[in-house]
Amino acid sequence: MKITSAVYVKSFMRQQDWDLPPLPEFAFIGRSNVGKSSLINHLVHRKNLVKTSSTPGKTRMINVFLINESFYLVDLPGYGFAVGPEAERDTWRKMIWGYLQNSPNLKLIFQLLDLRHEPSKEDQTFFQQLVAARLPFQLIANKADKLGPNARAQQLKAIQHKLGAPQKPLLHSTLANLGRQELLACLTAALREPAPNQGEFAAGGAGAGATSPKSGVISGSS
Ligand code: GTP
Ligand code: MG
Repeated sequence: MKITSAVYVKSFMRQQDWDLPPLPEFAFIGRSNVGKSSLINHLVHRKNLVKTSSTPGKTRMINVFLINESFYLVDLPGYGFAVGPEAERDTWRKMIWGYLQNSPNLKLIFQLLDLRHEPSKEDQTFFQQLVAARLPFQLIANKADKLGPNARAQQLKAIQHKLGAPQKPLLHSTLANLGRQELLACLTAALREPAPNQGEFAAGGAGAGATSPKSGVISGSS
């Protein structure tokens, strides 16, 4: 896939406020600071389309970008940021799961993990919730530039094992320009599939390959 255009469209906090023309959507989720916004810039080959920061909690809303005038990339606020009061975490949960579970055109959710670390409790909880909700996902092990080739392979295995994931995560690094083509191939494959709530779904390289519609609201902690 060649990226020919990438534009910011809008930010919102509630899925009900989505008033954009229906097109396939891809969402990016993961701990704050794991590199979600940077990865979107890397994918579309634009340095500053999405705002990034070394301070966790930069992305606070659901930010939508229109790519090639044919699909959306959706940058989500990270879960590590919502470590404050329970009320704040609750707001985050409602925003994220309200979006993930009620978006009829959501093709694939990319859950980003830090390749250097064992998945955190929050990573694990979020992953389990994705599986329980039967949402189509693809794991990404990010910041691969921080490790050498041997350590990378070991960590990929360890992460897969810890999560009980069906497949190894995709390696990615914005800094080292790694994994971009593989991610684009994932998008291309998912774009060929019908949406998960429009019948049979098998998300190309995606881990879940879920076939059933989305279930009830997630209320567990994350
Ligand atoms: P929130 O918006 O807070 O949820 O964070 P985010 O996941 O969007 O992270 P962001 O893209 O803002 O990047 C966080 C920090 O990680 C920044 O300092 C980036 O420069 C750095 N970073 C992003 N991608 C990579 C990468 O591939 N390798 C390395 N080494 N650093 C990266
Ligand atoms: Mg961000």
